[in-house]
Amino acid sequence: MQASRLSSAPGPIGVFDSGYGGLTVLSQIRALMPQFDYIYLGDNARAPYGNRSFELVYEFTRQAVERLFRMGCHLVILACNTASAKALRTIQQRDLPLIDPNRRVLGVIRPTAECVGLFTHTRHVGILATPGTIRSHTYNLEIAKLFPDIHVEGEACPMWVPLVENREWESPGADYFVKQHLTRLLTTDPLIDAIILGCTHYPLLLPKIRQFTPSGIRLIPQGQYVATSLHTYLGRHPEMMNRITCGASIRFLTTEQPDSFAQSASIFLSHPVIAEHVTL
Ligand code: DGL
Repeated sequence: MQASRLSSAPGPIGVFDSGYGGLTVLSQIRALMPQFDYIYLGDNARAPYGNRSFELVYEFTRQAVERLFRMGCHLVILACNTASAKALRTIQQRDLPLIDPNRRVLGVIRPTAECVGLFTHTRHVGILATPGTIRSHTYNLEIAKLFPDIHVEGEACPMWVPLVENREWESPGADYFVKQHLTRLLTTDPLIDAIILGCTHYPLLLPKIRQFTPSGIRLIPQGQYVATSLHTYLGRHPEMMNRITCGASIRFLTTEQPDSFAQSASIFLSHPVIAEHVTL
């Protein structure tokens, strides 16, 4: 994609996820900064990303980012841990300088890692995430840079995203898989006193996750930390703030059936949603 083909006019903030999970981040960002315009893009047709190769996650994420740039976004949030773990660095370091060095793509792992030091006394932290995020060790590396005294134990939960994408988060199947992975994590490291929900889909399973987590263990959904971090970022970067339009609007795009996306998204967000189809 050529920078010259992109509009330099201000535009909305782009929020991207493989599916519905990023809505948990979007709602926190909009609660904190309702004045901006937003475009949410869910690649539901190709979700879940969690088991896919590095190359495919990178390729799909780059396509989504380019689409959001073409729609006028100067700032895109990867509201997906798997994409943040597998594609963010390459997009920031290799693609952005060629596409447009003034555009920005930010992820969700760093802002989440930054807050974790506050929530653990034992300095043993658990990460629940997709197989891709766990295998990338991105959380371990980011937390080690910021808090070298914290021990991090990861548990991959391959069934949790499909449960959410298929609206099965209240089913007995969800009980089984939620309990299975929490038990494994806490058996591997019984000293854990804080658990990061390292996938943006997981807050939709929060009541179940709470039900099977022993009291005294802090659960950390990431939406509010990503929102606060974005707010701080924009405060430090007025040049980016000036490139965001302020009409308090939101558009929802999906690579799947828009009606089915709208139906699920309305349940997740508790307000009516109209969605449009997009091809990447
Ligand atoms: N919401 C994505 C994440 O935060 C889910 C990835 C997937 O599609 O498996 O990792």
